[in-house]
Amino acid sequence: MSRIVGIDLGTTNCCVAVVDDAKPRVIPNKHGYNTTPSVVAVTETGQRIVGQIAVRQAVTNPEHTVQGAKRLMGRPFDSDEVRHAAAHASFEIVPGPHEDTRIILHGKEHSIPELSAMFLQEMRVVAEDYTGVRVDRAVVTVPAYFNDNQRQAVRDAGAIAGLEVVRILNEPTAAALAFGFGTSEPKTLAVYDLGGGTFDISIVRIDEHGEFHVVSTTGDSFLGGEDFDERVMDFLMKAFYRDNEIDLRESPIALQRVRQAAQKAKTELSSVDETDVSLPFIISTGPTGPRHMEYTVTRQHLEQLTGDLVTRTLQICEIGLQYAQLKPEEIDEVILVGGMTRMPAVQRAVEGYFERPPCKGVHPDEVVALGAALAAHAIEEDRDTGLHDVTAHSLGIMTAGGGFDALIPAMEPVPTKVEELFTTSRDGQTTVKIVVLQGESQWAAENNALGRFALTNLRPGAAGGVRVRVTFTIDEDGIFSVGAKDLDTGEEKTIDVLASSGLSDDEIERMMADSAEFLAFRRAEESREDSRQACSRLIAKLKGVLPEAEKKMAWTPVGANAVEKARKAVQLVETGLSGADDEALTKQHALLLRVEQMIDRALEKAS
Ligand SMILES: Nc1ncnc2c1ncn2[C@@H]1O[C@H](COP(=O)(O)OP(=O)(O)OP(=O)(O)O)[C@@H](O)[C@H]1O
Ligand SMILES: [Mg+2]
Repeated sequence: MSRIVGIDLGTTNCCVAVVDDAKPRVIPNKHGYNTTPSVVAVTETGQRIVGQIAVRQAVTNPEHTVQGAKRLMGRPFDSDEVRHAAAHASFEIVPGPHEDTRIILHGKEHSIPELSAMFLQEMRVVAEDYTGVRVDRAVVTVPAYFNDNQRQAVRDAGAIAGLEVVRILNEPTAAALAFGFGTSEPKTLAVYDLGGGTFDISIVRIDEHGEFHVVSTTGDSFLGGEDFDERVMDFLMKAFYRDNEIDLRESPIALQRVRQAAQKAKTELSSVDETDVSLPFIISTGPTGPRHMEYTVTRQHLEQLTGDLVTRTLQICEIGLQYAQLKPEEIDEVILVGGMTRMPAVQRAVEGYFERPPCKGVHPDEVVALGAALAAHAIEEDRDTGLHDVTAHSLGIMTAGGGFDALIPAMEPVPTKVEELFTTSRDGQTTVKIVVLQGESQWAAENNALGRFALTNLRPGAAGGVRVRVTFTIDEDGIFSVGAKDLDTGEEKTIDVLASSGLSDDEIERMMADSAEFLAFRRAEESREDSRQACSRLIAKLKGVLPEAEKKMAWTPVGANAVEKARKAVQLVETGLSGADDEALTKQHALLLRVEQMIDRALEKAS
């Protein structure tokens, strides 16, 4: 037996859920938290750590700790977003072999799907520990505004983690599903999702049959809590520079401390009016001697620093409503998703814009994973998910002169496909090149290139040219594919992908192998830890009963010998416990069990 789980692969936090007794439930990790920070680090000894423990060591290991990797997903190295991230990140970002983006950790290059796979794998372990069954399939959510490259990257991440991604679901759609599950009262929802890295606004209509129809969806996949954090960081560092003439960006450790303090201040200011940022010894050495950072930040100041970001989300809401051809007052319920919606200024803005208070009772951090679990369960039971989504971006091709010809418009329900006829014009032309793009600009260069394709080996010199029918498809996951057919011969033509910013099959294979190896290593480490704990428990128990055993048995030579043996065994195991390998642990555990039996029996006899 195996289960399909729902995973919210967030910029800041990941969350996994599963349907149990007909109800979706979030699965807590082994630390007892419902979400796991999307942070991964590599230690000096080359060990990989993920989640809470990675956060804890971030300040002392900033250059090898990655957070916010999702913001780089599917983005070419040469893009504004990657440049922005590189300027703010504590780790090194380099170009990959496919014009893609890579991160260096202790000398080893990692692709973004590879890093995302580490979070998926972590969620898989959390789910397997809870369900006790193998988890090798998942519904994974992505921001609705994610383009094809970003979605492909998520699919690659799944493959690397050894997880079959059975469906890629848009985050706001998943949230709407969890919110409206089981209702049959028709209504129109606005899902406002402001997370750590991305913003989405989706308008979803629930019909009388309980089916969910996304009417419009739009957003910004580079607008979220990280931008709010950066504003606070910039303020703190500027103030520090003004007061001390020291640029903290030059110290990765100081930068990391300021980042964490900024995040903390921002979060605290959702419930208090002012908070102190206090970072003693932010600079501890150097010509100036030790310096401390001490500033007070007020909620009002935070709102000033980030007001334009909130305004931008409202402008995007406006576009979403225009697409849906609705006015704010025609929305029945507004749902807030994402940790950033706890900020009072965000709540006020949304309430003002939609002229109604947002719904209570939606857990902003968990609702997306819950929706993913519901969809996963439907797929598990071979039922329809009842979800009807749309594509957020227009898809089209480059025309002569660098124009963009949209073939599938934005807000088109998916899955969908469109056919286009290409005819060779020149005598002897045997190749047709097609550049496929996504975006809303009339200029190809301003849109996002998905790939360059070539139809090759066309018959030369056919009278009137060769007619090739090319089919462009967007599937339910929002992922694009292309196929072609020679209309005169009926022959299917293969299309060569000339460029894409993703990973090659070989690379995915290699990363998969690495990932599986790590999982095996981790599982073995866990089982060793379990044995160690079992030994520790026995040691503690034996230490507890030995004094009594001694009292009762030590007056006979046999008894004294037994107690002495037991004491020696306990001591031996205790000193060797931390470094013991599998074999030694098994032996030591068996030894302790024998000692336990011997003492128990002796005590029984003595009493
Ligand atoms: N009480 C709070 N006040 C303000 N911001 C908060 C609060 N709690 C969490 N946040 C912020 O919310 C963001 C994380 O939200 P969430 O976990 O929903 O994001 P995510 O799902 O990981 O990201 P995304 O959906 O963008 O990929 C972080 O920027 C965090 O600082
Ligand atoms: Mg989210």
